[in-house]
Amino acid sequence: MKLLIHDLNEEEFAHISNDYKDFHIISDNGTIRPCIGCFGCWVKTPGKCVIKDGYDNIGDLIHEADEVVVISRYTYGGFSSFVKNVFDRCIGYVSPFFEIYKDEMHHKKRYPEDKPVTCIFRSDSFTPDQKEAAKRYLKSMCTNLHGLIKDIRFEECKSYDIDKKTLNKADNDKEGILFINCSLRADNANSKRFLNYIDAKIKGDKTSVNLLSYMNKQDELIKLIADTSKIVLSMPLYVDGIPSAPLRLMEKLEEYSFSENKKIYLIANMGLFESKQLVNLMNMVKEWSNKCGFEYCGGVAIGAGEMQGMMTDPSNPGKGPAKNVIIGLNRLSEAVEKSTQIEDIYADSNKFSRSLYMFIANTSWPRGARKNGLKKKDL
Ligand SMILES: Cc1cc2nc3c(=O)[nH]c(=O)nc-3n(C[C@H](O)[C@H](O)[C@H](O)COP(=O)(O)O)c2cc1C
Repeated sequence: MKLLIHDLNEEEFAHISNDYKDFHIISDNGTIRPCIGCFGCWVKTPGKCVIKDGYDNIGDLIHEADEVVVISRYTYGGFSSFVKNVFDRCIGYVSPFFEIYKDEMHHKKRYPEDKPVTCIFRSDSFTPDQKEAAKRYLKSMCTNLHGLIKDIRFEECKSYDIDKKTLNKADNDKEGILFINCSLRADNANSKRFLNYIDAKIKGDKTSVNLLSYMNKQDELIKLIADTSKIVLSMPLYVDGIPSAPLRLMEKLEEYSFSENKKIYLIANMGLFESKQLVNLMNMVKEWSNKCGFEYCGGVAIGAGEMQGMMTDPSNPGKGPAKNVIIGLNRLSEAVEKSTQIEDIYADSNKFSRSLYMFIANTSWPRGARKNGLKKKDL
Protein backbone atom coordinates (compact mmCIF):
# COMPACT_ATOMS: atom_id res chain seq x y z
CA MET A 1 0.00 0.00 0.00
CA LYS A 2 1.11 3.56 -0.76
CA LEU A 3 -0.22 6.54 1.14
CA LEU A 4 -1.24 9.93 -0.26
CA ILE A 5 -1.90 12.85 2.09
CA HIS A 6 -3.26 15.86 0.22
CA ASP A 7 -5.18 19.12 0.64
CA LEU A 8 -6.61 19.38 -2.89
CA ASN A 9 -10.28 20.12 -3.35
CA GLU A 10 -12.43 17.64 -5.31
CA GLU A 11 -12.01 19.46 -8.61
CA GLU A 12 -8.23 19.70 -8.26
CA PHE A 13 -7.93 16.05 -7.23
CA ALA A 14 -10.08 14.89 -10.16
CA HIS A 15 -7.28 16.02 -12.54
CA ILE A 16 -4.68 13.74 -10.96
CA SER A 17 -6.73 10.94 -9.41
CA ASN A 18 -5.61 8.45 -12.12
CA ASP A 19 -2.03 8.71 -10.86
CA TYR A 20 -3.09 7.65 -7.37
CA LYS A 21 -5.49 4.77 -8.10
CA ASP A 22 -3.74 2.23 -5.87
CA PHE A 23 -3.06 4.68 -3.01
CA HIS A 24 -4.73 4.91 0.37
CA ILE A 25 -5.81 8.54 0.45
CA ILE A 26 -6.05 10.92 3.39
CA SER A 27 -7.89 14.09 2.38
CA ASP A 28 -9.91 16.79 4.05
CA ASN A 29 -13.52 15.77 4.71
CA GLY A 30 -13.99 18.65 7.13
CA THR A 31 -14.02 16.55 10.30
CA ILE A 32 -10.37 16.47 11.34
CA ARG A 33 -9.72 17.78 14.84
CA PRO A 34 -6.46 19.39 15.94
CA CYS A 35 -3.98 17.68 18.25
CA ILE A 36 -4.56 18.85 21.83
CA GLY A 37 -1.05 18.03 23.07
CA CYS A 38 -2.17 15.31 25.52
CA PHE A 39 0.48 12.71 24.48
CA GLY A 40 -2.23 10.04 24.74
CA CYS A 41 -0.75 8.53 21.55
CA TRP A 42 2.34 7.73 23.65
CA VAL A 43 1.07 6.95 27.15
CA LYS A 44 -2.57 5.83 26.73
CA THR A 45 -3.05 4.11 23.39
CA PRO A 46 0.58 3.83 22.15
CA GLY A 47 0.82 4.52 18.42
CA LYS A 48 -2.79 5.68 18.08
CA CYS A 49 -4.36 9.08 18.65
CA VAL A 50 -7.02 9.23 21.36
CA ILE A 51 -9.27 11.59 19.34
CA LYS A 52 -11.68 9.36 17.48
CA ASP A 53 -12.58 11.36 14.37
CA GLY A 54 -11.47 8.99 11.63
CA TYR A 55 -7.96 10.48 11.60
CA ASP A 56 -6.76 8.58 14.68
CA ASN A 57 -4.77 5.84 12.89
CA ILE A 58 -2.38 7.96 10.82
CA GLY A 59 0.70 6.50 12.53
CA ASP A 60 -0.46 2.96 11.60
CA LEU A 61 -1.16 4.02 8.02
CA ILE A 62 2.29 5.55 7.64
CA HIS A 63 3.84 2.37 9.06
CA GLU A 64 1.85 0.11 6.73
CA ALA A 65 2.61 2.21 3.64
CA ASP A 66 5.53 1.36 1.33
CA GLU A 67 5.92 5.07 0.77
CA VAL A 68 4.18 8.35 1.56
CA VAL A 69 3.35 11.10 -0.94
CA VAL A 70 2.32 14.52 0.35
CA ILE A 71 0.68 17.19 -1.79
CA SER A 72 0.32 20.48 0.05
CA ARG A 73 -0.17 24.11 -0.67
CA TYR A 74 3.07 25.85 0.28
CA THR A 75 2.25 27.71 3.49
CA TYR A 76 4.88 29.99 5.04
CA GLY A 77 7.65 27.47 4.37
CA GLY A 78 5.70 24.37 5.37
CA PHE A 79 2.41 22.57 4.89
CA SER A 80 -1.14 23.91 4.78
CA SER A 81 -3.15 23.63 8.00
CA PHE A 82 -4.95 20.45 6.89
CA VAL A 83 -1.79 18.56 5.94
CA LYS A 84 -0.09 19.87 9.08
CA ASN A 85 -3.05 18.66 11.13
CA VAL A 86 -2.55 15.17 9.70
CA PHE A 87 1.14 15.21 10.67
CA ASP A 88 0.42 16.64 14.14
CA ARG A 89 -1.86 13.65 14.67
CA CYS A 90 0.77 11.12 13.54
CA ILE A 91 3.41 11.45 16.25
CA GLY A 92 2.49 8.02 17.65
CA TYR A 93 4.40 6.77 14.58
CA VAL A 94 7.58 7.41 16.58
CA SER A 95 8.43 6.33 20.11
CA PRO A 96 8.14 8.81 23.00
CA PHE A 97 11.70 7.96 24.10
CA PHE A 98 14.53 10.28 23.15
CA GLU A 99 17.94 9.61 21.65
CA ILE A 100 20.82 11.69 20.33
CA TYR A 101 21.09 11.67 16.56
CA LYS A 102 23.67 13.80 14.73
CA ASP A 103 24.33 15.60 17.99
CA GLU A 104 20.68 16.64 18.43
CA MET A 105 17.92 15.24 20.57
CA HIS A 106 15.21 13.38 18.62
CA HIS A 107 12.67 10.63 19.15
CA LYS A 108 13.56 6.96 18.77
CA LYS A 109 11.84 4.89 16.12
CA ARG A 110 8.74 2.87 16.98
CA TYR A 111 9.12 0.80 13.79
CA PRO A 112 12.30 -0.46 12.11
CA GLU A 113 11.90 1.33 8.76
CA ASP A 114 12.88 4.74 7.41
CA LYS A 115 9.79 5.79 5.44
CA PRO A 116 10.34 7.10 1.88
CA VAL A 117 8.56 10.44 1.50
CA THR A 118 7.81 12.43 -1.66
CA CYS A 119 6.55 15.92 -1.18
CA ILE A 120 4.89 18.17 -3.76
CA PHE A 121 4.50 21.78 -2.67
CA ARG A 122 2.04 23.89 -4.68
CA SER A 123 1.83 27.65 -5.00
CA ASP A 124 1.16 30.31 -7.62
CA SER A 125 4.87 31.14 -7.51
CA PHE A 126 8.00 30.27 -5.53
CA THR A 127 11.01 32.38 -4.70
CA PRO A 128 14.35 30.57 -4.31
CA ASP A 129 14.19 31.36 -0.56
CA GLN A 130 10.79 29.76 -0.27
CA LYS A 131 12.03 26.60 -1.97
CA GLU A 132 14.96 26.49 0.42
CA ALA A 133 12.64 27.00 3.42
CA ALA A 134 10.39 24.14 2.31
CA LYS A 135 13.38 21.85 1.76
CA ARG A 136 14.76 22.72 5.18
CA TYR A 137 11.39 22.07 6.79
CA LEU A 138 10.95 18.69 5.12
CA LYS A 139 14.47 17.68 6.10
CA SER A 140 13.81 18.56 9.77
CA MET A 141 10.46 16.78 9.73
CA CYS A 142 11.95 13.66 8.19
CA THR A 143 14.76 13.65 10.74
CA ASN A 144 12.24 13.73 13.57
CA LEU A 145 9.79 11.24 12.05
CA HIS A 146 12.41 8.92 10.57
CA GLY A 147 11.41 9.64 7.00
CA LEU A 148 13.68 9.39 3.97
CA ILE A 149 13.21 12.18 1.43
CA LYS A 150 12.68 10.44 -1.91
CA ASP A 151 11.73 13.54 -3.87
CA ILE A 152 10.63 17.12 -3.32
CA ARG A 153 8.88 19.01 -6.11
CA PHE A 154 7.47 22.50 -6.54
CA GLU A 155 4.41 22.86 -8.75
CA GLU A 156 2.95 26.17 -9.78
CA CYS A 157 -0.82 26.31 -9.55
CA LYS A 158 -3.65 28.83 -9.73
CA SER A 159 -3.94 31.03 -6.66
CA TYR A 160 -7.26 31.02 -4.84
CA ASP A 161 -9.18 34.24 -5.40
CA ILE A 162 -9.55 35.91 -2.03
CA ASP A 163 -11.92 38.79 -1.72
CA LYS A 164 -10.10 40.60 1.09
CA LYS A 165 -12.38 41.83 3.85
CA THR A 166 -11.37 45.08 5.52
CA LEU A 167 -11.41 45.30 9.30
CA ASN A 168 -11.05 48.73 10.87
CA LYS A 169 -9.85 49.31 14.38
CA ALA A 170 -12.68 50.32 16.70
CA ASP A 171 -10.62 52.97 18.49
CA ASN A 172 -7.65 54.30 16.50
CA ASP A 173 -6.04 55.98 19.50
CA LYS A 174 -5.88 52.79 21.52
CA GLU A 175 -2.56 50.91 21.49
CA GLY A 176 -3.45 47.58 23.05
CA ILE A 177 -1.46 44.38 23.46
CA LEU A 178 -3.04 41.00 22.80
CA PHE A 179 -1.42 37.85 24.18
CA ILE A 180 -2.59 34.75 22.34
CA ASN A 181 -1.80 31.39 23.89
CA CYS A 182 -1.87 29.18 20.80
CA SER A 183 -1.42 25.91 22.69
CA LEU A 184 -4.63 23.90 23.01
CA ARG A 185 -3.43 22.80 26.44
CA ALA A 186 -4.81 26.23 27.31
CA ASP A 187 -4.12 27.24 30.96
CA ASN A 188 -1.91 24.17 31.47
CA ALA A 189 0.40 25.07 28.59
CA ASN A 190 4.03 26.07 28.82
CA SER A 191 3.10 28.70 26.20
CA LYS A 192 0.74 30.19 28.78
CA ARG A 193 3.42 30.18 31.51
CA PHE A 194 5.80 32.17 29.29
CA LEU A 195 2.99 34.60 28.46
CA ASN A 196 2.16 34.99 32.16
CA TYR A 197 5.80 35.93 32.73
CA ILE A 198 5.85 38.75 30.19
CA ASP A 199 2.32 39.82 31.13
CA ALA A 200 3.63 40.53 34.64
CA LYS A 201 6.56 42.55 33.23
CA ILE A 202 4.69 44.69 30.71
CA LYS A 203 2.60 47.69 31.62
CA GLY A 204 -0.24 48.94 29.48
CA ASP A 205 -3.60 47.91 28.11
CA LYS A 206 -3.37 44.11 27.83
CA THR A 207 -5.70 41.27 26.97
CA SER A 208 -4.79 37.61 27.29
CA VAL A 209 -6.70 34.84 25.52
CA ASN A 210 -6.46 31.12 24.90
CA LEU A 211 -6.93 30.09 21.28
CA LEU A 212 -8.86 27.09 22.61
CA SER A 213 -11.70 29.37 23.76
CA TYR A 214 -12.11 30.71 20.21
CA MET A 215 -12.01 27.49 18.19
CA ASN A 216 -15.69 27.81 17.27
CA LYS A 217 -15.79 31.60 17.14
CA GLN A 218 -12.66 32.56 15.26
CA ASP A 219 -14.34 35.72 13.92
CA GLU A 220 -14.45 37.09 17.48
CA LEU A 221 -10.72 36.54 17.87
CA ILE A 222 -10.05 38.19 14.51
CA LYS A 223 -12.03 41.21 15.70
CA LEU A 224 -9.89 41.35 18.86
CA ILE A 225 -6.79 41.23 16.65
CA ALA A 226 -8.18 44.05 14.51
CA ASP A 227 -8.61 46.19 17.62
CA THR A 228 -5.08 45.62 18.93
CA SER A 229 -1.76 47.12 17.77
CA LYS A 230 0.65 44.56 19.19
CA ILE A 231 0.11 40.82 19.13
CA VAL A 232 2.21 38.36 21.13
CA LEU A 233 1.81 34.80 19.90
CA SER A 234 2.99 32.00 22.17
CA MET A 235 3.04 28.50 20.74
CA PRO A 236 4.65 25.07 20.98
CA LEU A 237 6.62 23.43 18.19
CA TYR A 238 4.63 20.60 16.62
CA VAL A 239 6.38 18.33 14.11
CA ASP A 240 8.96 21.01 13.38
CA GLY A 241 6.43 23.68 12.54
CA ILE A 242 3.40 25.68 13.65
CA PRO A 243 0.63 23.51 15.20
CA SER A 244 -2.37 23.20 12.91
CA ALA A 245 -4.76 25.17 15.17
CA PRO A 246 -2.84 28.50 15.10
CA LEU A 247 -1.88 27.79 11.48
CA ARG A 248 -5.57 27.68 10.57
CA LEU A 249 -6.06 31.06 12.26
CA MET A 250 -3.04 32.49 10.47
CA GLU A 251 -4.33 31.31 7.08
CA LYS A 252 -7.70 32.90 7.89
CA LEU A 253 -6.09 36.22 8.82
CA GLU A 254 -4.64 36.41 5.31
CA GLU A 255 -8.21 36.94 4.10
CA TYR A 256 -8.40 40.32 5.87
CA SER A 257 -6.79 43.69 5.45
CA PHE A 258 -6.45 45.63 8.66
CA SER A 259 -6.54 49.39 8.99
CA GLU A 260 -3.19 49.49 10.78
CA ASN A 261 0.16 47.75 10.53
CA LYS A 262 0.30 45.35 13.46
CA LYS A 263 3.43 44.41 15.34
CA ILE A 264 3.92 40.67 15.85
CA TYR A 265 6.02 39.21 18.68
CA LEU A 266 6.58 35.51 19.21
CA ILE A 267 7.37 33.07 21.99
CA ALA A 268 7.96 29.52 20.78
CA ASN A 269 8.81 26.52 22.90
CA MET A 270 9.60 22.90 22.22
CA GLY A 271 10.02 19.56 24.00
CA LEU A 272 13.44 18.63 22.64
CA PHE A 273 16.55 20.23 24.06
CA GLU A 274 18.13 22.45 21.40
CA SER A 275 16.29 25.71 20.72
CA LYS A 276 17.87 25.86 17.25
CA GLN A 277 15.31 23.25 16.16
CA LEU A 278 12.75 26.07 16.33
CA VAL A 279 14.28 27.90 13.38
CA ASN A 280 11.65 26.68 10.88
CA LEU A 281 8.79 27.86 13.09
CA MET A 282 10.37 31.26 13.71
CA ASN A 283 10.80 31.76 9.96
CA MET A 284 7.26 30.60 9.26
CA VAL A 285 5.82 33.26 11.55
CA LYS A 286 8.04 35.86 9.82
CA GLU A 287 6.85 34.81 6.38
CA TRP A 288 3.24 34.87 7.52
CA SER A 289 3.68 38.36 9.03
CA ASN A 290 5.05 39.64 5.72
CA LYS A 291 2.20 38.05 3.81
CA CYS A 292 -0.37 39.72 6.04
CA GLY A 293 1.39 43.10 5.88
CA PHE A 294 2.26 42.86 9.60
CA GLU A 295 5.61 43.81 11.08
CA TYR A 296 7.49 40.89 12.63
CA CYS A 297 9.28 42.38 15.66
CA GLY A 298 11.17 39.39 17.03
CA GLY A 299 10.77 36.44 19.31
CA VAL A 300 12.20 34.06 21.85
CA ALA A 301 12.78 30.41 20.90
CA ILE A 302 12.89 28.18 23.98
CA GLY A 303 14.41 24.69 24.07
CA ALA A 304 13.47 22.11 26.73
CA GLY A 305 10.13 23.91 27.10
CA GLU A 306 8.55 21.27 29.34
CA MET A 307 11.19 22.04 31.99
CA GLN A 308 11.54 25.77 31.29
CA GLY A 309 7.77 26.27 31.53
CA MET A 310 7.81 25.01 35.12
CA MET A 311 10.79 27.19 36.04
CA THR A 312 9.67 30.44 34.46
CA ASP A 313 7.55 32.51 36.74
CA PRO A 314 7.71 36.20 37.59
CA SER A 315 9.34 35.49 40.96
CA ASN A 316 12.37 33.83 39.32
CA PRO A 317 15.23 36.37 39.56
CA GLY A 318 16.92 34.96 36.46
CA LYS A 319 19.04 32.27 38.04
CA GLY A 320 19.34 28.53 37.41
CA PRO A 321 18.45 26.58 34.25
CA ALA A 322 15.85 29.18 33.17
CA LYS A 323 18.36 32.06 33.19
CA ASN A 324 18.60 32.38 29.40
CA VAL A 325 14.83 32.12 28.99
CA ILE A 326 14.32 34.88 31.53
CA ILE A 327 16.91 37.11 29.84
CA GLY A 328 15.16 36.52 26.50
CA LEU A 329 11.67 37.14 27.88
CA ASN A 330 12.84 40.31 29.67
CA ARG A 331 14.21 41.65 26.38
CA LEU A 332 11.03 40.70 24.59
CA SER A 333 8.89 42.39 27.27
CA GLU A 334 10.87 45.58 26.87
CA ALA A 335 10.51 45.49 23.10
CA VAL A 336 6.74 44.92 23.34
CA GLU A 337 6.31 47.74 25.83
CA LYS A 338 8.40 50.20 23.76
CA SER A 339 7.06 48.94 20.41
CA THR A 340 10.60 48.20 19.23
CA GLN A 341 12.11 45.31 17.32
CA ILE A 342 14.62 42.68 18.48
CA GLU A 343 16.55 39.90 16.76
CA ASP A 344 15.20 36.44 17.53
CA ILE A 345 16.70 35.06 20.73
CA TYR A 346 17.44 31.33 21.00
CA ALA A 347 17.31 30.37 24.68
CA ASP A 348 18.80 27.04 25.73
CA SER A 349 18.95 25.74 29.29
CA ASN A 350 21.63 27.34 31.43
CA LYS A 351 24.14 24.90 32.92
CA PHE A 352 21.74 21.98 32.73
CA SER A 353 23.06 19.01 30.84
CA ARG A 354 21.24 17.56 27.89
CA SER A 355 21.85 14.02 29.12
CA LEU A 356 20.18 14.79 32.45
CA TYR A 357 17.19 16.41 30.69
CA MET A 358 16.94 13.37 28.42
CA PHE A 359 17.20 10.96 31.35
CA ILE A 360 14.43 12.78 33.25
CA ALA A 361 12.21 12.92 30.14
CA ASN A 362 12.79 9.25 29.30
CA THR A 363 11.84 8.15 32.82
CA SER A 364 8.71 10.32 32.79
CA TRP A 365 7.04 8.37 29.94
CA PRO A 366 6.75 5.02 31.80
CA ARG A 367 5.47 6.91 34.85
CA GLY A 368 2.75 8.53 32.70
CA ALA A 369 1.94 5.15 31.16
CA ARG A 370 1.62 3.38 34.53
CA LYS A 371 -1.24 5.73 35.42
CA ASN A 372 -3.04 4.23 32.42
CA GLY A 373 -2.28 0.64 33.42
CA LEU A 374 0.53 0.26 30.86
CA LYS A 375 4.11 -0.96 31.26
CA LYS A 376 7.30 0.53 29.82
CA LYS A 377 7.46 -2.21 27.18
CA ASP A 378 3.95 -1.23 25.96
CA LEU A 379 5.19 2.20 24.87
C1 LIG B 1 1.88 16.77 18.10
C2 LIG B 1 3.13 17.22 18.78
C3 LIG B 1 4.28 17.41 18.04
C4 LIG B 1 5.45 17.85 18.66
N1 LIG B 1 6.55 18.05 17.89
C5 LIG B 1 7.69 18.50 18.46
C6 LIG B 1 8.85 18.73 17.68
O1 LIG B 1 8.87 18.58 16.45
N2 LIG B 1 9.98 19.13 18.32
C7 LIG B 1 10.01 19.34 19.68
O2 LIG B 1 11.05 19.71 20.20
N3 LIG B 1 8.90 19.16 20.44
C8 LIG B 1 7.76 18.75 19.86
N4 LIG B 1 6.63 18.57 20.62
C9 LIG B 1 6.69 18.85 22.07
C10 LIG B 1 6.13 20.22 22.41
O3 LIG B 1 6.69 21.25 21.63
C11 LIG B 1 6.40 20.50 23.89
O4 LIG B 1 5.77 19.53 24.65
C12 LIG B 1 5.98 21.89 24.34
O5 LIG B 1 6.59 22.18 25.57
C13 LIG B 1 4.47 22.01 24.51
O6 LIG B 1 4.17 23.35 24.80
P1 LIG B 1 2.74 23.81 25.33
O7 LIG B 1 2.61 23.26 26.73
O8 LIG B 1 2.79 25.27 25.27
O9 LIG B 1 1.73 23.21 24.42
C14 LIG B 1 5.47 18.10 20.04
C15 LIG B 1 4.31 17.89 20.81
C16 LIG B 1 3.16 17.45 20.18
C17 LIG B 1 1.92 17.23 21.00
